[in-house]
Parts: sequence; C-alpha cells; structure tokens
Amino acid sequence: MKKWFIVSLMSILVAGLLAACGTSGNDDQAAGNGSGEGNGDKKVLRMGTSADYPPFEYIDTEKGEEIIGFDIDLAKAITKELGYELEVQDIDFGSLITAMDAGNIDLILAGMTPTPEREEQVDFTDIYYTANHMVVSLKDSKLEKLEDLQGKTIGVQLGSIQEEEANKIKEGGVDIKIENRDRIPQLIQELKTGRIDAAIIEDTVIKGYFEKDKDLTGFQLDTEEGGSAIALPKDSEMTEEFNRVLNEMKENGELDKLIIKWFGGEEE
Ligand code: ARG
Repeated sequence: MKKWFIVSLMSILVAGLLAACGTSGNDDQAAGNGSGEGNGDKKVLRMGTSADYPPFEYIDTEKGEEIIGFDIDLAKAITKELGYELEVQDIDFGSLITAMDAGNIDLILAGMTPTPEREEQVDFTDIYYTANHMVVSLKDSKLEKLEDLQGKTIGVQLGSIQEEEANKIKEGGVDIKIENRDRIPQLIQELKTGRIDAAIIEDTVIKGYFEKDKDLTGFQLDTEEGGSAIALPKDSEMTEEFNRVLNEMKENGELDKLIIKWFGGEEE
C-alpha cells in the first residue's frame, strides 16, 4: 500500500517536471529574444503593423492582398541588412504594443510616435519621419479653426496620439464629443455618413485621401509635430543595431529615396 503511494507520487512528480521543461522550452522559442528561427536557415523577425495607413502601410486591394508601404520597405531594408527575413502581421493599431508584450511580434512599424507612456512599455529607435495633425471634415461643414469644433463630434483612431490630441482640445475648453475607431477608413466612412463631424488624422496620411476625394478638407493643428519610430521590446539589444542601420540609411540617401517613393517629396 505504502509503496504504491510512493510510486504514484513519484510518477506525478516526474510528469510535472517534464511538463515544466516542455513549457519553458516553448516559451523560449516564442519570446525568441526577437530572433525566432524560421523554417529555413534565415532568422525571421515578425513585424506588427496596422495596415490602414497609406502610404505607411496599406493593402492595395486592386493589386492584391499584400501589405505594402513606406514602413514595409524600410523594415525590409533594415532587417535585410541585419541578416533577417521579415514577416508582416496586420493588427489593429491599439493592440500592437500588447501583441509585442505577449511575444507575438518582435517589432512594430506603424507610423508610431514615441510617447512617454509607450516608452514605459517599449524601446523606440530614432525618428525616421515627422508629421503634423490635421482636423479633417467635409467641405460643406465649414470647419476651419479649433473654435468651430465647439459642440461637434470628433473621430480618432483608438490608442493613437490623435486620440490624446482630441482629449487636449477638450481639456482646453472646446467642448467636443470624442469617438474612436480601430481603423482610419472607418473614420473616413463615418465622416461621409455624418456620424462624426471631423476626424484628427496625420497630415501625411490624409493627403492621399484629399487627392482622391474632393469633398474632404482640413486644417492643421498647431501642436508640436510628431514623428515615427520603430518600436522594439523593452531593453532589446536590437534597438542599437536598428539605429545604426537607420542612420546609415539617413546618410547614404537611401531613406530619402524611400520617402520620395512613398510620399513624393523630401522631408523638410
Ligand atoms: N502617429 C500616430 C500614433 O503614433 C498614429 C499612428 C497610426 N498608425 C497606423 N498604422 N494606423 O499614435
């Protein structure tokens, strides 16, 4: 009787030990220190982006289902230089940092602006492109300055710094109602149907919409300009390597080439 008990107790212990080994092995692979091994010989980096943001990242449905854009080209150039293969995943902007925290992706390029709150959770490289905020509306609604927004409903992308801008406007005394959506095309859609009166969107992104849609107009917010940077896991050793390649690309003109390709102009 006693012997039985000890034997079964031991097998439970051994099973537990094996299971524990199994899990920690998996964990290592999942976290991968940002260098998960791929199937082939090349190491793969998994990039998260929110593909609703032309020309940074979007899907040109006329051409296919591939995510293309400035951020994709930039990420490919840097990771190639560092000897990695790149895999791109489409995730709502507001969930990107959580996804990296969970170890599902290794880096984020999504026109993401470094902010103190985000810096508590991730590391950012140097800025690679700057932009300003624009208040976008239908021409007919005659919204031309901040005070015109009094009593209006303003749309922003969930979790973006534009959402913070909207909060600041409200705190500044212009009484607005704030609505958030996961994706930029949803904001444009809500504008068109009148469910929101205006949206705060980055100037470099809304420029493309202005060209296609003559009903839209906007004015610039005179706030500090925001820039885009690459986010990597907190204390990642890769941040330095990414910065090195990024700065090489700034110096040898490769970054400018990409800017001209996707934004059609030089960065002032
Ligand atoms: N620059 C803004 C931010 O960091 C908006 C970025 C939105 N990016 C996107 N891919 N939708 O909050």
